[in-house]
Amino acid sequence: MKNKSLVAINDLSKEEIIKILDLAEEFEKNPIQDILSKTVVATLFFEPSTRTRLSFESAVSRLGGRVIGFSEAASTSVSKGESLKDTILTVANYSDLIVMRHPIEGSARYASEVSPVPIINAGDGANQHPTQTLLDLYSIRKTQGTLQDLNIFLVGDLKYGRTVHSLMMAMSQFGATFTFVSPNELKMPNEYKMFLDSQGLKYYEQIDLNENLDKADIIYMTRVQRERFSDPLEYEKVKNVYVLRNKMLGNTKPTMRVLHPLPRVNEIHTDVDTSPKAYYFPQALNGVYTRMSIMSQILGLL
Ligand code: CP
Repeated sequence: MKNKSLVAINDLSKEEIIKILDLAEEFEKNPIQDILSKTVVATLFFEPSTRTRLSFESAVSRLGGRVIGFSEAASTSVSKGESLKDTILTVANYSDLIVMRHPIEGSARYASEVSPVPIINAGDGANQHPTQTLLDLYSIRKTQGTLQDLNIFLVGDLKYGRTVHSLMMAMSQFGATFTFVSPNELKMPNEYKMFLDSQGLKYYEQIDLNENLDKADIIYMTRVQRERFSDPLEYEKVKNVYVLRNKMLGNTKPTMRVLHPLPRVNEIHTDVDTSPKAYYFPQALNGVYTRMSIMSQILGLL
């Protein structure tokens, strides 16, 4: 991984994924180290974020590094018409590594092709969010004791949800069975289902969230993403389609955990928060350890 960009989860082999998770486990045991003391990381967020930006910045700070960057393009020369290429070439003069979130699919790949320093994709439109996937894998392995042969329920916006696309691609390397729970308007795109077919992996599709929950090892909830809809009426039709309630978890496995990349809107009722099966806030914490691991490996420090 040294000096390489991380743009999509399938840029990583299974062995590289496991190495990232193993090192993240070490960071969880010992999160205060000084290994980034000579490093400047730039966080360029052209779209809003709480967890991704702040967990990257927390990871850099805890490892003794410095952060520069912006959390909205309006305060930068992008608002004067500067191109993405010029922004990247400029910021690369000031930093050793660039973490970028951008609304346009493919922007992270493009940035990685023009940048002299590695780029970490922190989300590009509806396409990919690989560091979220790595923290999701970390959370799944930590709660289930394995990544192998698990039953993963992906719920909600499977059409525009970049986190579910990346997670599905990654879990396919570990023999998972998937259940896609979505309304017809937000079904998992065919290209991803064809990918699973080509790998000989099983998947099921259902509309009713209440069905088959007793089979799940992980219920991965997602938000219906208002910002991806071109027609606001289409969003209104599906925005509250699923609400997970505590009473729905009654027949689920004792080891089952509910994950969500967050932010949530209404799709997980707050009555789930006190359940021992709720894992979405520890999941967000795992982002710090996982991002420590990713950055230190890309920078060749470990
Ligand atoms: N999970 C995630 O990407 O959250 P943010 O949008 O808050 O970064």
